[in-house]
Amino acid sequence: MKIIDGKSVSEHLLADISLKLQSQKKNRSPHLAIIMVGKHPASETYVNAKIKTCEKYGFKGTLYHFPETITEKKLLDEIQKLNDYHEVDGIIVQLPLPKHISENQVIETISPQKDVDGFHPVNIGKMAKNLPALLPATPGGILELLKFYQIETAGKHCVVIGRSNIVGFPMSILMGRNSYPGNCTVTMCHSKTQNLEFYTQNADIIIAAAGQPELIKGNMVKEGVVVIDVGIHRVPDKTKKSGFKLIGDVEFDTVAPKSSFITPVPGGVGPMTIAVLLKNTFETWLQSNK
Ligand code: GUN
Repeated sequence: MKIIDGKSVSEHLLADISLKLQSQKKNRSPHLAIIMVGKHPASETYVNAKIKTCEKYGFKGTLYHFPETITEKKLLDEIQKLNDYHEVDGIIVQLPLPKHISENQVIETISPQKDVDGFHPVNIGKMAKNLPALLPATPGGILELLKFYQIETAGKHCVVIGRSNIVGFPMSILMGRNSYPGNCTVTMCHSKTQNLEFYTQNADIIIAAAGQPELIKGNMVKEGVVVIDVGIHRVPDKTKKSGFKLIGDVEFDTVAPKSSFITPVPGGVGPMTIAVLLKNTFETWLQSNK
């Protein structure tokens, strides 16, 4: 069993981007604009981590924090301003948004050229057609992990659990594309799937993005499975100074002994998401001639 070290792979990727950045002769650094609406403790943590990573690797990161009460119209206007601002290379709107704002409207207002989350239908369409595209950060990060560890994927049965726009849906498309990583036979499982263990027991690769703590247990997987755990849940733990610990969608202690490769939580998929976000921003910056 090998533990996939997402922290170290992400540092590798970011160091590589930072080197490429230094070799470019442009008069400004790549600039990521992050929009956040209202208060959401988990989003605040993610956004702060994104800004800090920008600063560490020579990017400019700007947070635009709007109150919960902002109207959809005003938010769309603000996005449009950033689309038009030539010194912004990448725009992300941290999700979830308050209920009165349409996520689809917001995503479709971001210019596809600056959509470094890869959520715009134009980028999703290019991804599905296996054309060069900005890939959603978490699925993109999972591909980087599979590549780094040279995990074979062609002809394997990959079971993706979860069909969110952010992870499960794009992941299922990526693993079935005619490329590496890819060329899998993909099964997409979700909340209405009956007899989930039937699929997981027949999986060579499991990508768990269901948002349910420790859903996947040791008796649900076969020997030698590759396990990618996208879940991240805070649960109380009196033995920890903080009073809590982080767990994933996979019950690590029972699944790890049967796995050939497995991502831990934390330190697996999580750090890769920010690395790919910066990689995407670096690419849009390279494309920009201003
Ligand atoms: N919320 C949870 N994950 C993400 C992400 O990758 N991008 C954005 N914009 N919001 C998120």
